[in-house]
Amino acid sequence: MKTLMIAPSILSADFSKLGNEIKAIDEAGADWIHIDVMDGHFVPNITIGPLVVTSIRGFTNKPFDVHLMVENSEKFIDPFIDCGANILTVHYEATTHLHRCINYIKQRGAFAGVSINPSTPVHLLEDIIFDVDLVLIMSVNPGFGGQLFIPHTIEKIEKLRTLIDKTGRDVYIEVDGGITDKNIYDVVRAGCNVIVAGHYIFSSKDYKKAICSLRNCATNNL
Ligand code: DX5
Ligand code: ZN
Repeated sequence: MKTLMIAPSILSADFSKLGNEIKAIDEAGADWIHIDVMDGHFVPNITIGPLVVTSIRGFTNKPFDVHLMVENSEKFIDPFIDCGANILTVHYEATTHLHRCINYIKQRGAFAGVSINPSTPVHLLEDIIFDVDLVLIMSVNPGFGGQLFIPHTIEKIEKLRTLIDKTGRDVYIEVDGGITDKNIYDVVRAGCNVIVAGHYIFSSKDYKKAICSLRNCATNNL
């Protein structure tokens, strides 16, 4: 059984001082740094490329959890691993040869994740589940930070937990979008062990307090 990981999404950080923001969440107790890569095609927004990742890599030793929301994900594996991604997640909906892609990420020495959008059913992961290190369940439609959590996600996490437990493998279940101190208990109880939180952490004045409150609320129902 894995311990709970908190992965602040830097999408809600102040981009004019990204290096300092990363240092601050590292010191505040972040386990992983979640980096949202958007291409303006797969999602209606454009964010961070490998050059930016290279420039922030030196600000922390914590793992970079890179979430690719791009078409043709295959093309971006090498560039993002070369610039310091430790965990690389591609979208099921954006990857034609998912099995090849996942295995290539692992061959390159990174953890390999697959993500599904809110409308993509969990059962479509039945075959790839034997290869991945992580499944990322989107609890909002990808593209923007600060959106509202979609409640149906809880059922999807429960289904995924059952699917993973059947395999006997220890695969991370990550949830991404709209996580707050009010819903973290439910997603963790459903079987999730990696929590992405952008707006909740970066809109607070005290990052350490925000991360601690997520950890506390994960085990204590409010
Ligand atoms: C959405 C991104 C998320 C987002 C989460 O497309 O993948 O990582 O930044 O942010 P919050 O926690 O603000 O919903
Ligand atoms: Zn994300």
